[in-house]
Amino acid sequence: MSDQQLSGDVYYPSKEVIKHANAKCDDLYQFASENYEGFWEKEAKNLHWFKKWNKVLDDSNKPFYKWFVGGKTNIAYNCLDVHVETPRRNKLALIWEGENGEFRSFSYFSLRRETCKFANVLKSLGVVKGDRVTLYMGRIPELMIGMLACARIGAIHSVVYGGFSVESLHERLEDSQSKVLIVADGSYQRGKVVQLKKIADEALQRAATVESVLVVKRTGEPVNMEAGRDMWYHELMSLPIANNSCNIEVMDAEDPLFMLYTSGTTGKPKAILHTHGGYMVGVYTTLKYVFDIHEEDRYWCAADPGWITGHSYIVYGPLLNGATSFMYEGAPTHPYPNRWWQMIEKYGINILYTAPTAIRGLMRYGEAWPNRHDLSSLRILGSVGEPINPEAWKWYHRVIGKEKCPIMDTWWQTETGMFMITPMPCLPLKPGSGTKPFPGLKMDIVDENGESVKPNEEGYLVIKNPWPAMVRTIYNDPDRYVNQYWSRFPGVYMTGDSARRDVDGYYWVIGRVDDVIKVSGYRLGTAEIESALVSHPAVAEAAAIGLPHDIKGNAIYTYVILKSGFTKSDSLVEELIMHVGHEVGPIAKPESVEIVDSLPKTRSGKIMRRVLKAKALGLDPGNISTLEE
Ligand code: PRX
Repeated sequence: MSDQQLSGDVYYPSKEVIKHANAKCDDLYQFASENYEGFWEKEAKNLHWFKKWNKVLDDSNKPFYKWFVGGKTNIAYNCLDVHVETPRRNKLALIWEGENGEFRSFSYFSLRRETCKFANVLKSLGVVKGDRVTLYMGRIPELMIGMLACARIGAIHSVVYGGFSVESLHERLEDSQSKVLIVADGSYQRGKVVQLKKIADEALQRAATVESVLVVKRTGEPVNMEAGRDMWYHELMSLPIANNSCNIEVMDAEDPLFMLYTSGTTGKPKAILHTHGGYMVGVYTTLKYVFDIHEEDRYWCAADPGWITGHSYIVYGPLLNGATSFMYEGAPTHPYPNRWWQMIEKYGINILYTAPTAIRGLMRYGEAWPNRHDLSSLRILGSVGEPINPEAWKWYHRVIGKEKCPIMDTWWQTETGMFMITPMPCLPLKPGSGTKPFPGLKMDIVDENGESVKPNEEGYLVIKNPWPAMVRTIYNDPDRYVNQYWSRFPGVYMTGDSARRDVDGYYWVIGRVDDVIKVSGYRLGTAEIESALVSHPAVAEAAAIGLPHDIKGNAIYTYVILKSGFTKSDSLVEELIMHVGHEVGPIAKPESVEIVDSLPKTRSGKIMRRVLKAKALGLDPGNISTLEE
């Protein structure tokens, strides 16, 4: 594969990279295409099962696929207990650095101990298998401990990104009917404290199901503790109930592991449901091959555990592979733009996985910052969350990777759970392309009629066969699951992205074709931003669109019609921007709010965002025959 001649700008892997790689490309692609279920079954056998499955894939009730049917396992057991029985017991599982320079580390042994203790705390609060537990924190070890503790006792975790705000947290607590909320008092971001507990208190006012709130002390700033509901994590962890040993709950392969909310085309964010068995096999396998994890590696995924990238590739994937994972709490440029490079040197990081927006942001400060540090420990780099522009790819490759580290540009989604279009170190790379579907996956690019498009033509990116880490359903809304993903082309999974495939079969993802905006790699729905705007007393109607942005990839632009009695002013615009930040979270703050007298609508009253976008970009709005006025 590596000696194949490809068109365009191609970076061939070196002999050393190919030799080191866990993935032997030709063998893997061939085996997985000839025996797809056999490929996944072979990987599943590397993990521990209390009882083996009877069937690898059950597709009798499409699109509700089941994997490793009849198998009994527990992902937390595979993440921790399995390693504690081996010499990895004393290997570091997690190294953590706080934004303020604090340092903590956990061996596999001590991470299991903390997890067991916390699992016992949860049990003492009455949490049982199937209960939902929401976690709302910054990037701190307790987030990982909390997730693993839930998994251990079979509770379903729902992590809400610490950058979300009152309404987002409230909606997620309510929809998941969570019994317990685990929250930090606050988190550090760019030297400032984000008062998470205060936001949670506001959200909790209307969240009826939450019985207990466990508060992790991170910043030590004063917080309100409601008697009978709120308890300090560290106090509970020092009680006798926080025993070091906690029996593992034996889970069915198809039992839910977690739900994670993500934005869709319409309405409220939806909870994507993942399971213990298939998800475990998917993330374990993809991380092993794509990031070429070896025993001696220190691996850093700089995402947030509050997003799928963090779930799959900070928490579960690295631990399943027995790796040493590094987690950093704060901002990349705090206190100076060399913070990341300093930590890579200090901890000897071998693998760095981040988002194009972070690369573009750091690139802006110039080469001198990374050049002050010894980055020679790096072996592999990764990118995720949005298309990476070739200029940023090349900078990352040359300045950070010193032209020796291949870049794994991984395309995937909350729903896919694992890498789907991705290079492996043995593949030649083209800057801006995620190369090819992971071995065995049948992906395609199709036109309006579902027919494959010709090379280099743009079309809908779809997936044509099931995969183990796939979303099982939308929590409590199976109809929405079918409608959203499986109804446009029956039997085919619709990703919501557009893409093209070149003559070498390399995929180039272009972006979303629905009303989802990717801002700095974060996924937001126009509906969420619009409903935050109309929740302000001055706003009658609102429309949000994404427009290209040099660093963020896309930025949010909004258009607002005021209610009568309100007049346009700079202070009102500023207030509306802050209001969206308060309701949804700082990441959703619009770049601008333009106050207008009317919005382009179809005759049935649907806002034509396409027309707004074309106008903002100075382009032809295309077919406007359905436009009302
Ligand atoms: O549009 C694609 C973009 O991110 C979307 C999924 O967002 P989310 O569920 O938040 O998961 C992000 C992390 C896996 C996709 O539909 N996307 C993700 N990775 C890439 C990408 N676009 C281009 N290239 C990528 N590597």
